[in-house]
Amino acid sequence: MNELIQLLPKAELHMHIEGSLEPELMFKLAARNGIDLPYKSVDELRAQYDFNNLQEFLDIYYQGCAVLQTEQDFYDLAWAYLEKAKQDHVVHTEIFYDPQSHTDRGIPFEVAINGLYRAFDDAQEKLGISFHIIACFLRHLPEQDALDLYPEILKHQDKILGIGLDSSELGHPPEKYQQVFAQAKKDGFKVVAHAGEEGPADYVKQAIDLLQVDRIDHGNRCLDDDILTAQIAHKGIALTVCPLSNLKLKVVEDLQDHPIKQMLKKGLMATINSDDPAYFGGYINDNFYQLAAAVDLSDDDIFTLVENSFKASFLPDSIKEIHLKALNSFG
Ligand code: ADE
Ligand code: ZN
Repeated sequence: MNELIQLLPKAELHMHIEGSLEPELMFKLAARNGIDLPYKSVDELRAQYDFNNLQEFLDIYYQGCAVLQTEQDFYDLAWAYLEKAKQDHVVHTEIFYDPQSHTDRGIPFEVAINGLYRAFDDAQEKLGISFHIIACFLRHLPEQDALDLYPEILKHQDKILGIGLDSSELGHPPEKYQQVFAQAKKDGFKVVAHAGEEGPADYVKQAIDLLQVDRIDHGNRCLDDDILTAQIAHKGIALTVCPLSNLKLKVVEDLQDHPIKQMLKKGLMATINSDDPAYFGGYINDNFYQLAAAVDLSDDDIFTLVENSFKASFLPDSIKEIHLKALNSFG
């Protein structure tokens, strides 16, 4: 089973690059930039990674971003993720980053996007991993902040394929962001939104009906609404599911309670992803290994989930076909 997971080439569609900042790199960048961390050691920092909900995680995650100061810092962050992705046989990745968590600290917009893009562009050649970058708006901030930042994103449309929505979900429904998402759609961006992680099924519905998303990030809570679930399955809107994140943020109490099999049974195009691997204890293959053991995934289930990762990607159909063919040679 684990050999199959390791063997299969796969795409990752839900990974926040800031959430791949390992404590060791955080300390290294802090030293390089003369920043004092409020922890004495890597172990002391890791000991904080015990969360009761999304907000407790986000508070630590945004604090960690403070060590990212220069274009090289963003390059090094991305490269560290890419080396892990290569080990896990990821051949295509669509990563999130949170521009506002950097511009709001006085880091110019170009610094993050140029560092990230350079690393992913290098990886295409050196590691054989293709990529897209998705810039997420922080939903705990007013829509006006997103509208103010949007021209910068548009200016870098050659590097940014899509727009996302993340951060604290409860109390920040998708309807709050209709204006900026409508503009992004008009300008030809792909659009995605976190919905139904902690928030209710209605937030998933809003993301689909009001933001016209191309994919839902997480989406677990759509299962509370049978009609909505059937509609999502019928429309083929993919869910980027993150099992270890769901466990660490207490979206599920136990990995054995994870609804992945129910999702597949209901015809949802679910995919497996790592979300914030440095904080949740594992990269994409760890998510597969632990989930497969907890809910007893069959080889067919694993194959379907990996196949979905390419089908749900934003790659052109001709490239999807190449990946699906390569995958089928393992089937
Ligand atoms: N930002 C980083 N990880 C996130 C998550 N799991 N949910 C919402 N916002 C996030
Ligand atoms: Zn996420």
